[in-house]
Amino acid sequence: MLSNNIISIIEKNINLITNLHDLNLLKNQYLGKNGYISKQFKKLKNHNLEDKIKKSIILHKYKKIITKIFIEYKKKLENIDINQKLTKQSIDITLPGRINRLGSIHPINNIINKIKYFFIKLGFQHICGPEIENNYYNFDALNIESYHSIRTQKDTFWINNDILLRTQTSNIQIRIMNMIPPPIRILTFGKVYRHDYDNTHTPMFHQMEGLYINNNVNFTDLKNILLNFVQYFFNKKIKVRFRPSYFPFTEPSLEVDIMNNKNKWIEILGAGLVHPNVLKNVNIDANTYTGYAFGIGIERLTMLYYNLQDIRVLFENDIRFLQQFNYITYKYDKV
Ligand code: DAH
Repeated sequence: MLSNNIISIIEKNINLITNLHDLNLLKNQYLGKNGYISKQFKKLKNHNLEDKIKKSIILHKYKKIITKIFIEYKKKLENIDINQKLTKQSIDITLPGRINRLGSIHPINNIINKIKYFFIKLGFQHICGPEIENNYYNFDALNIESYHSIRTQKDTFWINNDILLRTQTSNIQIRIMNMIPPPIRILTFGKVYRHDYDNTHTPMFHQMEGLYINNNVNFTDLKNILLNFVQYFFNKKIKVRFRPSYFPFTEPSLEVDIMNNKNKWIEILGAGLVHPNVLKNVNIDANTYTGYAFGIGIERLTMLYYNLQDIRVLFENDIRFLQQFNYITYKYDKV
């Protein structure tokens, strides 16, 4: 029958084992279905009841001790295994790290930031407004004649008889003048929509709009700020030309041209003194207040600034093109 001897035999054998597979084989010899302990239990059936009880208590005790020995040795082997793995698998700190690639600022946004920088420094406040607009804000209140061609299906994206995708950022002039009394000095940027598509036009493009309303705002103020802006944007030596023009919402109106590197005049923006009819439409007294407004096509400036030939590269999202613009130039919010 069992004795303490069995424990020391197991302990001796187990210490020779170096892997889990061999440990399992040894465990089966003692604790398996046909193992040593099972066989001892089977032998009990030849004994009388009293003996059976006594001996089975002892057998259970040994079974418990042996099971514990195997569990502990298994843990020991597993620990050795982990430690070996850890010492073998070293981390090569000389490998180059993974680079997190930063995106780049889109050229359109770069130009918007550059323009913002100039006007915000001069006290203009940046505001945003809706791209889905109605007749009143986009045309009527801006003194645009009911027969103007821009109101037709051919030029404008209409949603129904009254609602449209705005054709210009000038809608913001009306919205802001309806909201707050003068003095007003605002700047807005955004998308506008027109039926147009070729290498210098896309159906969606960006405009920037400026508006200044106060006592005694005059045409010289307008010319002065525009000249300064153009010289800031391009350079001091750029040739600038003011040309009389017509817009329904300004009187007088002008357009600004610059001379490009091929000695050609290129129009870059429209402007003028806010038409008294527009002021009347928003209940601002035209005898007390005057103002100027100006509108700039952002794509046009972007193309001139970066010397791009085709507007469509700005919207094709070709990474080879966009990667060239990965710098932030203007931190206007810190001004
Ligand atoms: N809204 C005009 C356009 O889309 C641009 C413009 C011209 C805006 C003169 C103005 C302005 O504010 O005074 O062509």
